[in-house]
Amino acid sequence: MKAIALLGSTGSIGVSTLALVREFPELFKIHSLAAGQNLTLLAKQVKEFTPKGVAIKHEADVPALRRLIGNKIEILFGESGAAAMASAPEVDIVLAAIVGGAGLMPTLQGLLAGKEIALANKEALVMAGQIFVDAAKKRGVRLLPVDSEHSAIFQCLQGNQRAEVDKIILTASGGPFLRTALSRLEKVSVAQALKHPNWKMGKKITVDSATMMNKGLELIEARWEFDMDPNSIQVVIHPQSVVHSMVRYQDGSIIAQMGIADMRIPIAYALAFPNRLKGSWPPLDLTRQSELNFLPVEKRRFPALSLAYEALREGGTMPAVLNAANEIAVAAFLNGRIGFREIHRIISKTMRKHANRAAAEIGEILEVDRWARQYASALIA
Ligand SMILES: NC(=O)c1ccc[n+]([C@@H]2O[C@H](COP(=O)([O-])OP(=O)(O)OC[C@H]3O[C@@H](n4cnc5c(N)ncnc54)[C@H](OP(=O)(O)O)[C@@H]3O)[C@@H](O)[C@H]2O)c1
Repeated sequence: MKAIALLGSTGSIGVSTLALVREFPELFKIHSLAAGQNLTLLAKQVKEFTPKGVAIKHEADVPALRRLIGNKIEILFGESGAAAMASAPEVDIVLAAIVGGAGLMPTLQGLLAGKEIALANKEALVMAGQIFVDAAKKRGVRLLPVDSEHSAIFQCLQGNQRAEVDKIILTASGGPFLRTALSRLEKVSVAQALKHPNWKMGKKITVDSATMMNKGLELIEARWEFDMDPNSIQVVIHPQSVVHSMVRYQDGSIIAQMGIADMRIPIAYALAFPNRLKGSWPPLDLTRQSELNFLPVEKRRFPALSLAYEALREGGTMPAVLNAANEIAVAAFLNGRIGFREIHRIISKTMRKHANRAAAEIGEILEVDRWARQYASALIA
C-alpha cells in the first residue's frame, strides 16, 4: 500500500490519478491533496478519499474550504503548504502534477525529504534539472516519469544496456496546427489552439502542444531524466499518438512503446513500478489503426522547439527563462492579450535579454524565474 501526496489533484492528471486510486484501493491510498482554486472539486475529492490534509493556493480561500469540508482535516496554503504535504513522514510517493513553475518547490521539498517522485510537472525539471538529479542521487530516490513520452522511453530502456543507447526519439502529435497554412497561424483563435487532436489535457499544456513548446520542455525533461546529450534526442512528428516514444540502440534497432492515449497508463506505471496494472482501460487494437506516420518537424511552423534546443544547449539558467517566459506568454494568449505567434517571439526576446549563468542554487533559479516573468509581462504590456 503506497501513500500518495497528490499535488495538483483538481487538474487533468490529478483526476486521472484519483481514478486509479479508486480502481486499486488495495495498492494506493491518498495521504494528502494539493490544489489551486477549484474548491468545489477539491471538497468532493476530500469526501471520497479522506486525506489527512489538503493544501490550496490562497490563504484567503481557507475559510470557504473549511465550510465545505468541516473541521477534521488539516488545511494548509501556499507553496509551503503543498511542500509540507509532499514531505510529510507518512508519504511514500509524491505525484507531482501542479502545472508550471508553481510546482517546483513543493516537488523539490518532497524529493529532499527522500520521497519517490512520480513527475508530471515537467516545468520543475526544466527549471532546475541539475538540482533535481543531484538531489535524487544523493538521497537514492527515483524520479519516475509520468509524461507519456518519458514513460515510453523509461519502458523502452528496461532490460537494455544504457551504454548501447544511440538516440532517444520523442514523438509529437503536431497538435491542431500541423497542417494549417503558415500564413494563417498569426490569426488562430484560443478555441482552435485548445482543440488537441488526440489528448484531453489542461489548457496550458494544450497550448504548449499547439506551439510545440511542450515537446521543447519534454526535450529538456528527457535530457535530465535519462542523462542524455542534447544531440542524442530527436523529435519526430507522429500524428496518431500511438507510439508514445522510442529508443534507438547502436545496432540500429528501435524499441517503441505503444498504447492508447490515456494518461492512466503512464501514471499507473509510475505508481506501481516495476509492476504493470490491469486497469479498466481498453488495450490498443492495432487492427483498428490504419496508418502510423512519422514526419520531420518543420522548423518554421514550430519555432518554439528550436528555442528549447537553444536553451538546453546553453544550459545554466536559460531553460528557466524559456519556461517562465512561456508561462507568461501562454497565459496572455489564453486571456486574448496576444496572438498565437507572439508566444514564441516573447520567449525569444526574453531569452536574448538574459545574461545566462550557472544554476547551482535553487535561489538563483527562482530569481531568474521572477526576472523572466517580469520581463515577458512588460513586453506584453
Ligand atoms: N494533462 C496531461 O495529459 C499531461 C500529460 C503529461 C504531462 N502533464 C503535465 O502535468 C502537469 C499538470 O497538467 P494538467 O494538464 O493536469 O494541468 P491542469 O489540468 O491545468 O491542472 C493543474 C493543477 O495544478 C493546480 N495548481 C495550479 N496552480 C497551483 C498552485 N499555485 N498551487 C497549487 N496547485 C496549483 C490546479 O489547481 P486548480 O485547478 O484547483 O486551480 C490543478 O490541480 C503539467 O506540468 C503538465 O505539463 C500533463
